[in-house]
Amino acid sequence: MYKVLTLNKIAKPGLAELERFSEYSDKEASPDAIILRSYAMHDMELPESLAAVARAGAGVNNIPIDKCTERGIVVFNTPGANANAVKELVIAGLMLTSRKIWQGINWAQGLKGQDDVPALVEKGKAAFGGNEITGKTLGIVGVGGAIGTLVANAAVALGMKVIGYDPYISDKARGVLSPEVQIAELDAVFAESNFITLHVPYNSGTKHIVNAETLKACKQGAVILNFARGELVNDADIKAALSGGKIGFYITDFPNGELLGVDNVITVPHLGASTEEAEENCAVMAAVQLKDYLEKGVIVNSVNFPTMAEREPVKSDKRLCVAYNAEAEQDVLAGVKDILAKKGCEFTLDSAVKGKAGYALVYVSGGDSSALDGAVKQLPGVLSARVI
Ligand code: MLT
Repeated sequence: MYKVLTLNKIAKPGLAELERFSEYSDKEASPDAIILRSYAMHDMELPESLAAVARAGAGVNNIPIDKCTERGIVVFNTPGANANAVKELVIAGLMLTSRKIWQGINWAQGLKGQDDVPALVEKGKAAFGGNEITGKTLGIVGVGGAIGTLVANAAVALGMKVIGYDPYISDKARGVLSPEVQIAELDAVFAESNFITLHVPYNSGTKHIVNAETLKACKQGAVILNFARGELVNDADIKAALSGGKIGFYITDFPNGELLGVDNVITVPHLGASTEEAEENCAVMAAVQLKDYLEKGVIVNSVNFPTMAEREPVKSDKRLCVAYNAEAEQDVLAGVKDILAKKGCEFTLDSAVKGKAGYALVYVSGGDSSALDGAVKQLPGVLSARVI
């Protein structure tokens, strides 16, 4: 049985998947794998035994990806598994910011204890009117992702005009998107939309993608919806744009001390993926991906290593999994083949590269396959080696 360290509460169906191949615990000191949700791993000492990390969710900014890559630790996420939950909250966000529902509810609560509440409601409700979203323009930054595509199609179904920006949009995503969705440049998305929703990961390229300049380009009274990551928006800039009236509302799933209590900021406590369905989907997907990697060397949905499918039909005594520095690929693969040949092993080798990281899955038969991993680890450029 493999050993898995759980760093957050994992939904029951995910635990059931873990039980199929591992003993899991929140105290495991020498885990083969870690499964987590939002636990911040950056200050954590990575155990020597660690081969894989699975994030039950989409964002991986709580995981030290570069450190994991340098150690040959494969990091997985679960793209799409919580996309429907996030989409539904974004649609709620559109409603909350087109009409003063939230403010009206708060006001109505404040009437408790007063006489003739129904009459007060009818008298005071005029302060909480709004507009309909049908016919308005929704701009989606990151329209080609799992969440972006769902939001786009739902908004079209609600009668909105949808324009989206995504420099990395795949043909598959284009095929899924309603033909009514227009693909546009980022400038046009900010300039032409009544509502702008963000669906990109947070990284050095997307930090503060909403800033003084992009806000200046927006329509008067535009609304910003952020159910992606807090760091995508420059808080000082959006507060300035809100106080000047340029931006009508900012709804964010990432409250912080700067944003609480600010007029026309609606703070949701990171509930985007907090549905039973999404938590279960993410936990199961993360656990299955760990199982496939630990037991078969197969990689699906890794953020730092390439995808590696299983060869069929597969006939081998053992499998050797090698993570390596992509720059050293030729030497590493030649070295692996040399070691296997010297040991008299027959083998079939599949390899792939993603960015700076390479991975080889080698099906090994016959010969002396003892201590293979130890020998391969000595090769320059090898980050990790494991025999299954
Ligand atoms: C995600 O990254 O998947 C969502 O923000 C939800 C979460 O953090 O679990």
